[in-house]
Amino acid sequence: MPETHFGYRQVPLDDKQALVDDVFHKVARRYDLMNDLMSAGLHRAWKDALVTAINPPTKGRPGRLEQKPDRDFALLDVAGGTGDVSFRTIRAGGYGTRATVADINAEMLSVGRERAYGQGLDDAVTFVDANAESLPFPDKSFDAVSIAFGIRNVPRIDVALGEMHRVLRIGGRFLCLEFSNVDVPGLDALYELYSFNLVPVIGRAVVGDAEPYRYLVESIRRFPRPNVFADMMRAAGFGRVSHRVMSGGIVALHSGWRL
Ligand SMILES: C[S@@+](CC[C@H](N)C(=O)[O-])C[C@H]1O[C@@H](n2cnc3c(N)ncnc32)[C@H](O)[C@@H]1O
Repeated sequence: MPETHFGYRQVPLDDKQALVDDVFHKVARRYDLMNDLMSAGLHRAWKDALVTAINPPTKGRPGRLEQKPDRDFALLDVAGGTGDVSFRTIRAGGYGTRATVADINAEMLSVGRERAYGQGLDDAVTFVDANAESLPFPDKSFDAVSIAFGIRNVPRIDVALGEMHRVLRIGGRFLCLEFSNVDVPGLDALYELYSFNLVPVIGRAVVGDAEPYRYLVESIRRFPRPNVFADMMRAAGFGRVSHRVMSGGIVALHSGWRL
C-alpha cells in the first residue's frame, strides 16, 4: 500500500485521515483559543490577508450608497473547521456574500455552527460535512475557494486540489493559506525552538495533550516548499499561480485562478 507522512511518522496512505481526524477531534473545543495563544494573535492578520485576496464584493454593505449586487457571492472554505475564514469574509463583503464551510470533522463543524449562531451569521454560512478529496458540490459552483491551514492535513493533496479546481467557476480564484518555511537568519532558530519546545507545552496546558501539537509542528516541516506546491497547483489546472510569504516565511498565501 502507498505510504505518506503523518507528521514525521511514515504511515499507510489510507491510515492518515483517521489519525488527522483524531487530532482535530481532541482540539476542537479549544481550537480557536489555541490559535490565538500559539500565534500571539498573528493568525488574525494572516486570515485578513486571505480575505482581502478573496475580495468579496462590498456592494450593498450597510452605510454604502451602491445598490445591492445582482447575484450572491459564494465562497467555499474547504477544511474550514470552526468557520473563521467564512465569518471574516461575510463581514468584509456586502449583501449577498455567502459562505460554505466544508470540513471532514463533525466536532469542528459543531463548534463552528455554535459560533455562527452566537455571532448572528447562521443565515449566511452553511456547514457541510465533506472530505476535500471528494467535494459534494456541482462543477463551477463557487466564486472563490479557500483553504486555510488545511491542505497539509489532507492525505491526497493532488486529488483535493483537483476537486477545488472543479467546483470553482471559470474566472474564480483559489487561495490557500498554509504554514511555510522561515528563512530569515536568527528568526529560523528562534522559530524552531518555539515550535518544538513551547508549542507542545502550551498544547498540554490548554488542551491537556501535547501530541496534537507535536503533529502540527512536524506536519508544517513536512509540507512542500512554496515553489513545489505552486507546481502542484498548476498540475491541478490552476493558472496565473503565485504566492507571497508573510511574517518572515511562517506562512505563505498561494493564489491560482480557474481560467
Ligand atoms: C488547522 S485546521 C484549520 C481550520 C480553519 N481553516 C482555520 O484556519 O481556522 C485543519 C482542518 O482541516 C480539516 N481536515 C483535515 N482533513 C480534511 C479533509 N480530508 N477534508 C476536509 N477537511 C479536512 C480538519 O478537520 C480541521 O478542521
